[in-house]
Amino acid sequence: MRKLIIDCDPGIDDALAILLALASRTDVDLLGVTCVRGNVALDKTHANARRILAAAGRLDIPVLRGLAGPILSPARAEAKAHGTDGLGGLDLPEPELPVPEMTAADFIRQQAALYPGEVMLCPIGPMSNVAVALLSDPLLAGRLHSIVFMGGAAFCPGNMNEHAEFNFLGDPHAAQVVLQSGARLVMFGLDVTLQAKIEPEHLDRLRRNGNRCSVLAADLLQVYAARDLHLHDPCALAWALDPSLFHGIQARVHVITDSGATFGQSVATPDPAGNCLVITGVDQERLFDLLIGRLA
Ligand code: RIB
Ligand code: CA
Repeated sequence: MRKLIIDCDPGIDDALAILLALASRTDVDLLGVTCVRGNVALDKTHANARRILAAAGRLDIPVLRGLAGPILSPARAEAKAHGTDGLGGLDLPEPELPVPEMTAADFIRQQAALYPGEVMLCPIGPMSNVAVALLSDPLLAGRLHSIVFMGGAAFCPGNMNEHAEFNFLGDPHAAQVVLQSGARLVMFGLDVTLQAKIEPEHLDRLRRNGNRCSVLAADLLQVYAARDLHLHDPCALAWALDPSLFHGIQARVHVITDSGATFGQSVATPDPAGNCLVITGVDQERLFDLLIGRLA
């Protein structure tokens, strides 16, 4: 059973990744969800994570607040694909539960120390929280099982401009801290996530499942697909469930943090001794079968 922490900026595709983890209780033990500013402001990403867990009946899972902006660069505009509230305007109630005092970075460090070598950290937003956790605890990189992140564009153009992908551009310095941390890294960049294309039949199949989480996923994707057809974040989560869905190459990856047109660009060079396994392909049909099957 893989112990997992999802660090996220919900965000509709983040929400799908959380639902997929919750629907896979025999494969993953979701220790907690940590939130960061990204698609929308921190107050909204944190509230949205609580709303999703409440909708799935899992208020036992702690939701921790993290950084309200990047560690060094100015905060960027919010994303449009997720609606102004970050969850497509769906009226999901926020639970009354008190908010834990512990910060996201402290929670990540605490769990890695509790379960040395076991925790897979899955950042699917800007990696500000992960960078703070790594910088404040020199032992963390070695204690984590791995960091499996959605971000960057290794061998393809970005989605914010021709150079940069949203999560890396959201906090390039944080991404560079993660890339040079020495932790075991698996990168789900646009190279693979742009292959995870939502089709109308996927929504039909989710609705035919008929259960609450499948219908919620279909409602969320209905809104999201109007602006972005790609299931970025669930790809990173699916790695924890079935790595055989994917293939990739080991590479040396760094992020450009100098200001200018390429700010936030990920630069990758194939290298068997590289710092990062860059995922470059997915069996799209099997990925959606996994998502739709698990949510049922
Ligand atoms: O570029 C895609 C990423 O940006 C996804 O994580 C999506 O949720 C947004 O955060
Ligand atoms: Ca995200």
